[in-house]
Amino acid sequence: MKGLPLEKGIIYETIVSTFDEKGKPNAAPMGISIDSNGDLILRAFFQTDTYQNMHQSKICVINFTCNPELFVICALFQDELPEESFKKITKISAPVLKECINRYIIAEVKNEKIELERAIFECKIVQFQIKEDFYPPYTRAFSSLLEILIHTTRVLHFSKTKGSTSPEVIRLMELIKYHANVIERVSFDNLIYNQLVDKILEKISSEIE
Ligand SMILES: Cc1cc2nc3c(=O)[nH]c(=O)nc-3n(C[C@H](O)[C@H](O)[C@H](O)COP(=O)(O)O)c2cc1C
Repeated sequence: MKGLPLEKGIIYETIVSTFDEKGKPNAAPMGISIDSNGDLILRAFFQTDTYQNMHQSKICVINFTCNPELFVICALFQDELPEESFKKITKISAPVLKECINRYIIAEVKNEKIELERAIFECKIVQFQIKEDFYPPYTRAFSSLLEILIHTTRVLHFSKTKGSTSPEVIRLMELIKYHANVIERVSFDNLIYNQLVDKILEKISSEIE
């Protein structure tokens, strides 16, 4: 959708807010992505309240935040999130987190598919509120890339001082592999992160025997 600063084929970590059938607000961290048709894709495990609420109301609000406390509370300590943290949006049967009032998307469920233990919701973006101070939404691809970079600088150092088969280098290479795998999973259709990982891995190969 024009004006929406989200790239296709990459999972962003967001907080999804919904109402249950009695109108009680709920918020939970969920990964979202934009597919090649411009639809918003959300995969929710069947046991989550978010799944139940979206299945029933066919609508949700995608809240963008980098507030670590909000992620922790919404994932594990939802009782600590008071109802006053939410605001009802006129004519929409889903609430927004007040903290994200300048950074949210309203998504309407177009289609629901089943994938093992979860539902894949294909949603139409019906409205969004993105103010100028919007920063790129959080993606694990970026944090894993930083981990790879840090570990790589240490690999290059330790391979010279301790040898390329030293336990330190082997452990760091395992961490690099782990994070490269995360990047592959969360930025499946997004070339840039995968290209950067390849570039870094080539540098490691060329510099250590
Ligand atoms: C960063 C992050 C991303 C998550 N992404 C998903 C997801 O895409 N789908 C899902 O079902 N659960 C996901 N979870 C787990 C749910 O947030 C968690 O199970 C939550 O308690 C569900 O709350 P609910 O039952 O109120 O929906 C994620 C958790 C975190 C911390």
